[in-house]
Amino acid sequence: MGNILSLKNIVKIYPNGVMANKEVSIDIEENTIHAIVGENGAGKTTLMKIIFGEEAPQKGEIYYKGKKVNIKNSLDAIKMGIGMVHQNLMLAPDLTVAENLILGIEPLRYGVFLDLKKIIELTEEASKKFGFKVSLNKKISDLSIGKKQRVEILKALMRDAELIILDEPTSVLTPQETEVLFKSLKDLKNHGKTIIFISHKLKEVKLIADKVTVMRDGKVISTNDVNQLDEHMIAHMMVGRKINFKRIHKAKKVGDPLFIVKNLSYLSEENIFVLKNINFEVRAGEILGVAGVEGNGQTELVEILTGLREATSGQIFIGKENISGFSPRKIREEMVAHIPEDRMKNGVAEHATIEENIIVDRYYQDYFSNNKNLFLDWKYISKFSNDLIEKFKILTPSSKAVILSLSGGNIQKVVVARELSSNPQVIIAAQPTRGIDVGSEELIHNLLKDARDNGIATFLVSADLDEVLKLSTRIIVIYDGEIVARFDDIKDITSKVLGPYMLGVKKKGD
Ligand SMILES: Nc1ncnc2c1ncn2[C@@H]1O[C@H](COP(=O)(O)OP(=O)(O)OP(=O)(O)O)[C@@H](O)[C@H]1O
Ligand SMILES: [Mg+2]
Repeated sequence: MGNILSLKNIVKIYPNGVMANKEVSIDIEENTIHAIVGENGAGKTTLMKIIFGEEAPQKGEIYYKGKKVNIKNSLDAIKMGIGMVHQNLMLAPDLTVAENLILGIEPLRYGVFLDLKKIIELTEEASKKFGFKVSLNKKISDLSIGKKQRVEILKALMRDAELIILDEPTSVLTPQETEVLFKSLKDLKNHGKTIIFISHKLKEVKLIADKVTVMRDGKVISTNDVNQLDEHMIAHMMVGRKINFKRIHKAKKVGDPLFIVKNLSYLSEENIFVLKNINFEVRAGEILGVAGVEGNGQTELVEILTGLREATSGQIFIGKENISGFSPRKIREEMVAHIPEDRMKNGVAEHATIEENIIVDRYYQDYFSNNKNLFLDWKYISKFSNDLIEKFKILTPSSKAVILSLSGGNIQKVVVARELSSNPQVIIAAQPTRGIDVGSEELIHNLLKDARDNGIATFLVSADLDEVLKLSTRIIVIYDGEIVARFDDIKDITSKVLGPYMLGVKKKGD
């Protein structure tokens, strides 16, 4: 079969001088699922934005269905039959899910504006067809990151494109949801569509893709049939070394309870109990992992624990101190670090520099300022930031680069670096390695393990069950706002064991 898309010698240099694509040539065969993998900052998203008309290359040619094309903007791309799911979700925060789904297609396909009833009808149909449950009337800004991701995927699928680009669509989907998505993607392929699929989860690449292209440092390293490679080989090609996929769940030394939650409940604005009588404690030196399907109260729980939302009842303690109702800043002052699930919403100021983002929560602390808090000590801040950039391998030309000029995974690394370097006694980590490449994931996992061995209490929430299993020393399962199972010895626990609890089929007495 022929190529639906051929890229020839694409070069992209950003205004700040970063050369993100260096003579990239890739052929995408029609009616295949073609994966693109590579370390954070390898140039994957840049290349996709070029195909989708959002960035202009300085050099190179694009052929679509055998014809040379000039894709000036995303409207051009959509008209040609290209759809894209963005890594940094591009939804309008103040509009509802239904409005977002229809935005863009509506005037194109129907010529006139539709009434709300018709919009709901169309979107309901699509959400059923593709098996994605979304609350159509909710505002985007009220959704968790996992739900936003589903809306963005549904939006691309609804457009009926011939070539669909998915830039890390599964970074916060649970295994169950990923399965649903993959079924849809296979269906689309069976109907003659072509899919470009970017993911850091190599297991998924193995599962779904026909071909895989490895990118490194803006260049294509290789393109292979997926069945010629295994996960370890792909990882090796990506980062140039062996990656350890082993579990590291044995606590070294467990101390006193450090982070304690008692009888915590939360009644939502819609009068639904989103959290029901949650009780747990995390001891010094432990990582307590939460397994659960996204949307079972995890987002609200983390927001309450970090002061972003108020509980309806119940208490939170750090050691003996009751911190219930404390503001986010006061909770931070209790040495609680927070890696938020949605880095763009709660993690960074996107137009500020790396340095500014590193000190944002602690600029008032003594060591960052001199002259009794009147002036910030920028020389020290620069050094501190540059040390973190080196330690976390954050790819950037300078510590003064603005956040938005970094690749998705590198933005995540800034957040993790800031939080892990804040000298915490408790870490609340939600999706800590979302969008992070396998090499840096290993680094962050090792740092969380070191934190554990140094007596820090960590509360871990992750949609990635492999991550929960790999890092946790104990696991709780949350379903419909309730803790339905607790596993204190997790040596033999697998995703198969957790599955029925996560789906609410099984419940274990406390
Ligand atoms: N708007 C921009 N301005 C300047 N530099 C940019 C911009 N966008 C990306 N870059 C740089 O281009 C390089 C490639 O980034 P890109 O987002 O394409 O990487 P990626 O492979 O998608 O990484 P990730 O896995 O983290 O998403 C990085 O060095 C990044 O810092
Ligand atoms: Mg990217």
